Amino acid sequence: MKEFKKIGVLTSGGDAPGMNAAVRAVTRAALAHGVEVVAINRGYSGLIAKDVKELSVRDVSNILNRGGTVLFSDRCPEFKTEEGMQKAIASCRELNINGIIAIGGDGTFRGATDLTVRGIPCIGIPGTIDNDITSTENTIGFDTAMNTTLNMIDCLRDTCESHARCNVVEVMGRNAGDLAAYTALASGATAVVIAELPFDEEKLITKIRTSRALGKRNFIVVVSEGMGTEFAPALTERIEKETGVEARFARFAHVVRGGTPTLRDRMLATRMGEYAVERLLEGKSNIVICEKGGNLTYTDICFALIVDRMYKNTLKEGDLDAFTAEQVEEMKAICAKKKALITSLAASVDKLGL
Ligand code: ADP
Ligand code: F6P
Repeated sequence: MKEFKKIGVLTSGGDAPGMNAAVRAVTRAALAHGVEVVAINRGYSGLIAKDVKELSVRDVSNILNRGGTVLFSDRCPEFKTEEGMQKAIASCRELNINGIIAIGGDGTFRGATDLTVRGIPCIGIPGTIDNDITSTENTIGFDTAMNTTLNMIDCLRDTCESHARCNVVEVMGRNAGDLAAYTALASGATAVVIAELPFDEEKLITKIRTSRALGKRNFIVVVSEGMGTEFAPALTERIEKETGVEARFARFAHVVRGGTPTLRDRMLATRMGEYAVERLLEGKSNIVICEKGGNLTYTDICFALIVDRMYKNTLKEGDLDAFTAEQVEEMKAICAKKKALITSLAASVDKLGL
C-alpha cells in the first residue's frame, strides 16, 4: 500500500458554502494521522502554478463557519489539456504531494480521475450548490443555498401579498432543478419549472387566474436556470398579460452561493472530509464520497460521472461499455430514484401551492 507523507487539498469549480469546513476536516484528520497537508490554492490552476502552502492545525482555525473557500477557486481550462495535466503531475512530484482530496463538482472529479490514472491518487468530495452529483443524495453547499433561496422567496412573498403580485424567481442549479424544486415546495410556490420535467404553461395561467378570482394575492413561480436565460423573463410577461396579475422577475444568481454554511452543510462537509482522508490513507483512490440514507459511503469516480450523464440523458456511445450489466442496472436504479423524488416534489408544488 502507498505510504502517504504529504497530501494536497483543493477546492475547484463553483464555490459552495461548507467547502471551508471540509478543508478544515481534511487537514486536521490528516495531521492526526501524521500526514502533512498542503493547501493548493485556486484549484487546478494553483496546482499547475505550484501555488501551495503547508497547513498546520491552527491554519484552519476559524474557517468552519465561513462561506466561500479560503483556498480560492478557479476554472482552469489548461488543466484539461495533456500539457497542463503533465505540469500538474510535475508539480506533485516536485512538491512531494502523493495524494489529493479535491472538493468540487463533476468537472473537478474529471480532473481528479485524470490525475489518479497518471499516478497521483485522488479522492473527490462533492461540493456544489447544484446538488447535481447523482450518486450522492446531498452535496456540500446545497442546504445553505436552499435556505438562502428560501429566505429570499419569503421576502418576495411579503411584498407580493401587499401588492397582489406574482414574482417569477430564477434560481441557479446549472442543468439541475434540485434547488428550484426543493425551495418551491418549501416556500409554497404556485409552480416550479425545471428542465428535467415537462411544464404546462397554460395550466399555470389558468391556475393563477382561478386562484386570484378566489382571493389569493401572492404568487411565486420558481424557475431553474436550466430553462435558459430567456425563459423566466418571458414567462413573467406572459403571466401579467394573460392573468391581469402584475408580475415581476427576480434572478437570484450568485447571491445564494455565498453566506455562512448551515449546520447540515457543516456536518456533511466535516464528516466527508474526515471520511475522505481515512479512505485515502487506507489505499482507496479515484472515488467520490457520497451520502446515502444519512450514511457516508463512496463510489468510483468514473461510475459517478456516468450516472450523472445517464441522469441528464447525455450518455455518449460507448459510455457504458466499461461497466457490467449489474452496474448499469445500479446506475438506472439511482437515476430512477432521483427522478422519482424530483417528480414527486414538483407534483406536490402543483397540488399544494394554491
Ligand atoms: P465543477 O467542478 O463545479 O463541475 P467545472 O466544470 O468548472 O466545475 O470544473 C472545475 C475544473 O475541473 C475545471 O476548471 C478544470 O480545471 C477541471 N476539469 C473540468 N473538466 C475536466 C476534464 N474533462 N478533464 C480534466 N479536468 C477537467
Ligand atoms: O455550479 C455552481 C453554479 O453556481 C451553477 O449553479 C451556475 O450555473 C454556475 O455555477 C455559474 O458559474 P459562474 O460562477 O462561472 O458564473
